[in-house]
Amino acid sequence: MPMPEPVVLPSPAEMQAYARRAAAAGRSVGFVPTMGALHKGHLSLVERARAENDLVVASVYVNPTQFDNPEDLKKYPRTFDADKALLAKAGTDAIFAPGDGAMYDPDARTWVEVGDLPDRLCGLSRPGHFRGVCTVVTKLLSIVRPDRAYFGLKDYQQFRIVEVLARDLNLGCAIVPCPIVREDDGLACSSRNVRLAPAHRREAVWLNNVLRHAEARILKDGERDALKLAGELYELLERNTSAEIDYLAIVDALHFADLRKIEGEVLIAAAANFGKVRLIDNTRLSV
Ligand code: PAJ
Repeated sequence: MPMPEPVVLPSPAEMQAYARRAAAAGRSVGFVPTMGALHKGHLSLVERARAENDLVVASVYVNPTQFDNPEDLKKYPRTFDADKALLAKAGTDAIFAPGDGAMYDPDARTWVEVGDLPDRLCGLSRPGHFRGVCTVVTKLLSIVRPDRAYFGLKDYQQFRIVEVLARDLNLGCAIVPCPIVREDDGLACSSRNVRLAPAHRREAVWLNNVLRHAEARILKDGERDALKLAGELYELLERNTSAEIDYLAIVDALHFADLRKIEGEVLIAAAANFGKVRLIDNTRLSV
């Protein structure tokens, strides 16, 4: 049976009216925020939301306040018709798709910031990025009022910051982490992958390869020296790719503090530029 077309809500007011009707009818809402250009990583979040809620709302909004580079914002792919078709197929009930001017009042002056968690990893090379993410996610959650919101672990730092934000502001919405979806060769799905030159696309699998190497060294060999292992991973990535490495970090998975000894909840995260394309990947381990 074909899925019914999702309703498209182009303004916060219409989205809020939909959310009020859902609440009045006692229907639970699962929410998947996205910036569009959807791939199977995004769709895995929608499928999870479909399985756990009465209604599924996805947002498609390229949020200008989280771009530290205006060129990047301009070049961000906008593929709404294809996104809508994919969301329909995955069983989305409503798409919140505010137009460019619809989310921020021209006089807006409120920002949401989450302590020092943005001062590490991706935040270091992307000043203001997480402030923009936190502000728009707070706005989206207060407009959509979902019971659960779904975030991919590919953007682990984003997931963790949003989890802390929802806790600290009592947003009353569960933040649900979803596993990283990968291409057949292990490269994490990303809307940026299509921009990779063929040679860089081949090399990019090494981001995943070094993480699998780290897991084997920790879980099979019992390596516990974070500095030694980080050096090893760095060397492996340098030897096998032409990428410019932004960071390769072994940190505590809750607050991103550097670890000397590998123990507890551990995050191993990497970011590297393949030509002009910045890719990230990570793995979280309980040691
Ligand atoms: P976007 O990059 O479109 O990602 C939307 C969601 O899809 C995020 O939760 C992200 O972690 C998840 N995702 C992306 N690739 C994935 C993969 N390979 N496997 C699993 N999940 C994946 O992240 C954003 O948009 C924005 O910052 C947003 C939260 C919408 C705020 O503007």
